[in-house]
Amino acid sequence: MQKIQSILSDIMMAAFEDSGYDAKYGIVRLSDRPDLCEFQCNGALSAAKQYHKAPFIIAGEVISNVKPAEGGTSLFTAEVVKPGFININVTGDFIASYLEEMAEDAALSIPQEEVPKKILIDYGGPNVAKPLHVGHLRSAVIGESIKRLCRAVGNEVLGDVHLGDWGLQMGLIITELKERSPELIYFAEDAPESLDEYPKEAPFTIGELEEIYPFASAKSKVDEGYKARAMEATHDLQAGRPGYRALWNKIMELSVADLKKNYERLDVAFDLWKGESDVQPYIPQMVEKMKADGTAHYDQGALVIDVAEPDDKKAIPPCMVLKSDGASLYNTTDLATIVERMKLYNPDAIIYVVDKRQSLYFTQVFRAARKANLIGDDTKLVHVGFGTMNGKDGKPFKTREGGVMRLETLLDDINEGMIGKIRENRNVRAEDAGKTAETVSLSAIKYGDLSNQAAKDYVFDTDKFTAFEGNTGPYILYTIVRIKSILEKAAESGQDAEMGRLLSPGTAEEKALMLDLARFGSVIWEAYEELAPHRICAFVYDTANDFNRFYHETKILGEPDDARRASYLKLLSITQRVLEKSIDILGFEAPDHM
Ligand code: ARG
Repeated sequence: MQKIQSILSDIMMAAFEDSGYDAKYGIVRLSDRPDLCEFQCNGALSAAKQYHKAPFIIAGEVISNVKPAEGGTSLFTAEVVKPGFININVTGDFIASYLEEMAEDAALSIPQEEVPKKILIDYGGPNVAKPLHVGHLRSAVIGESIKRLCRAVGNEVLGDVHLGDWGLQMGLIITELKERSPELIYFAEDAPESLDEYPKEAPFTIGELEEIYPFASAKSKVDEGYKARAMEATHDLQAGRPGYRALWNKIMELSVADLKKNYERLDVAFDLWKGESDVQPYIPQMVEKMKADGTAHYDQGALVIDVAEPDDKKAIPPCMVLKSDGASLYNTTDLATIVERMKLYNPDAIIYVVDKRQSLYFTQVFRAARKANLIGDDTKLVHVGFGTMNGKDGKPFKTREGGVMRLETLLDDINEGMIGKIRENRNVRAEDAGKTAETVSLSAIKYGDLSNQAAKDYVFDTDKFTAFEGNTGPYILYTIVRIKSILEKAAESGQDAEMGRLLSPGTAEEKALMLDLARFGSVIWEAYEELAPHRICAFVYDTANDFNRFYHETKILGEPDDARRASYLKLLSITQRVLEKSIDILGFEAPDHM
């Protein structure tokens, strides 16, 4: 289905041509001044320069050649205003039939990629054995939405959690476990070679694991010998020492199960649970090739790839591939991950949703990957960098005691506050309150994050985010629930919203709502092109506001005229579908009552 602007553009372009001007001046866009008109064409102002004629004259000629009709219905009215703008308002019949057509498609006519792409999204990025903290929230929330957005326009998309499961943190945990329980079989001199011979049960619980890591990490900072032992353990693990591999498997099992539980609570789902450890086998060959073809060279003992380019505004240091002791590092793993992803999935694009403080890092890695020919020219590498989630004091979000806040704690706190609000509400049955509170809380957290441009820092303000009024998730849900309950009442008296036909809008409020809905497809497409979920939030907020204005001005179920009432119900049903599809892409859903 064509965008409403492009239907209008086609007609205006023909009119420019018929008047003897270049068709390109006929482009129509949404009005910057919705108080004056709905759409506008400013082409006469640019044409004036080329044709040395007053814009007002050109616009006048064009208008007289406009044929704004299709099958007998007039689509719009156009008027020239000084110095040469063409203001356009669509007719009620046109907007109604446009929406009818859009509603006929179960997928609401969202534009689709002509040639669907294969896209891999690297998001979440949690580290094994460390509890998920709020720092990981943004990657999960933004990444999930970008994944759904890329899918909505027809692409084949894979989400990969890319676990941090291979670094020093593993050596630290092993070292601390050995300190506490040296008698465990994993540490024995004669530990079995075969991994099958180790106990099924892990020698720790997830709670212990989460306590062990910060403990070991703190200790390594003050105890040199301890740190050296942890590094050695890391090295032994990476070299394949069976006891350590067996222990690592146990750490992974518990940790991944816990992570899955947490991501499920966030309604975040990964297709791939791969991690840094998976790509280690690719490293030796990759490094050899880089050395052999001269992409990489030794500099002060370290193997590096120069990635500076002549146009760089600031210096981009070389990308290090191996440290001077021969050890691989974060960069090496990311490069090897690209090798594996190309081999297994051959995607058209890899999108990394990672803190923007890593943007220099990704510039280095992406350039190194191209220089080393790890990817073809037609595979795009994109870093969607996000800002910091701050507390009300403007500093990175912390617990009241000043520690790092666990994601679980944040979710629990918000749920607890929400359940009180939900219980006050007589529309929700007591037994549904818990589930409803969770649904509404999630909307508060996700919308609070996504409504800001990702690259910006934002303040996580619980009171503001959980309010039922204002630019919040709960307000959007409240609007959807309101629509659902009207439609439910209508259904009880035998009125089926889908049966109605949209009539030309009777009021300005109704038309404003219809114009919002007609924008849906273009908004989704623009959000996709910019990988910008905040655009969808802005759209959803405008639409909810316009719906609520319409609702307050209109007696819907009390409307005596049958055709008019049926048209209202149809409009409500389309509004509900558009809002629900939008929030589904954002990554949350609406309850039936709240
Ligand atoms: N685990 C990393 C961290 O906690 C994030 C990983 C991001 N993804 C990547 N391919 N580097 O900072």
